[in-house]
Amino acid sequence: MTHRILILGGTTEARQLAGRLARRKDFSVTLSLAGRTESPVAQGVPVRVGGFGGAEGLAAYLRDEQVDLLIDATHPYAARISANATEAAERAGVPILALRRPGWEPVAGDRWTMVDSVAEAASALGTASRRVFLAIGRQEAGAFEAAPQHGYLIRSVDPVDPKLAVPDALYLLARGPFAEADERALLERHGIDAIVSKNSGGEATYGKIAAARALGIEVVIIRRPPLPDVPSAETVDALAAKVDHLFDPVAERGV
Ligand SMILES: NC(=O)c1ccc[n+]([C@@H]2O[C@H](COP(=O)([O-])OP(=O)(O)OC[C@H]3O[C@@H](n4cnc5c(N)ncnc54)[C@H](OP(=O)(O)O)[C@@H]3O)[C@@H](O)[C@H]2O)c1
Repeated sequence: MTHRILILGGTTEARQLAGRLARRKDFSVTLSLAGRTESPVAQGVPVRVGGFGGAEGLAAYLRDEQVDLLIDATHPYAARISANATEAAERAGVPILALRRPGWEPVAGDRWTMVDSVAEAASALGTASRRVFLAIGRQEAGAFEAAPQHGYLIRSVDPVDPKLAVPDALYLLARGPFAEADERALLERHGIDAIVSKNSGGEATYGKIAAARALGIEVVIIRRPPLPDVPSAETVDALAAKVDHLFDPVAERGV
């Protein structure tokens, strides 16, 4: 019997999880991407792209495609799709599991300022002009037009379009992972004295946090949004084990 699994992805872990689950002959895995990135990296399993049309649309997809398990492996800041996933799973009567990568915790030497939104981050930078490294992706960079007194270095996977209406902004296109030594060199080269970051968690983008600590640079951290409480695991391995268990032949017989 084939078990149909839909993974809501857009993260490195989602891709790793998909590859891992696809090794099982009795699993048919599809990965779903929002379509935000112009040329996403190859995912290694069948992919569908684009929104579903809210929780209702996703519930219809789960029913139409006879999905047996929904896995939410989206980015911790993609709160809408996570909420939709939970609601859709309930409506369609499909089990849901979430891959929830833990956030970073501050350690000695970190100079973190915690805020709740990108808009709050823009005002937390203060009134005096600073050299700011924006590492929050392109979708919300526009919020920093409210603080045009700063000079910005803005890094994203795809170009920021339209560009920010501020007098001093430099754009850098790059896709992680980013090593700490490279991040440190970047911060020094551009004379950065503040970083704005999400609390993504994981290793791939931690380099800038460690580099900021070494250089004594302030990091304005945008807190994670609240996410629905569903059965979850913190790592690809732990989530894969949960999936294996769910479809374990013994468990399926109800023994
Ligand atoms: N790798 C990273 O660093 C990173 C960072 C940020 C975001 N992301 C990824 O980018 C995607 C979009 O982020 P967002 O901030 O736009 O999320 P969002 O605000 O939670 O989602 C907005 C809408 O985009 C659609 N959507 C989001 N994720 C989808 C998916 N995996 N498959 C199909 N449709 C999806 C849904 O549209 P409908 O309501 O029409 O279904 C959703 O309502 C997410 O998949 C997220 O994991 C990755």
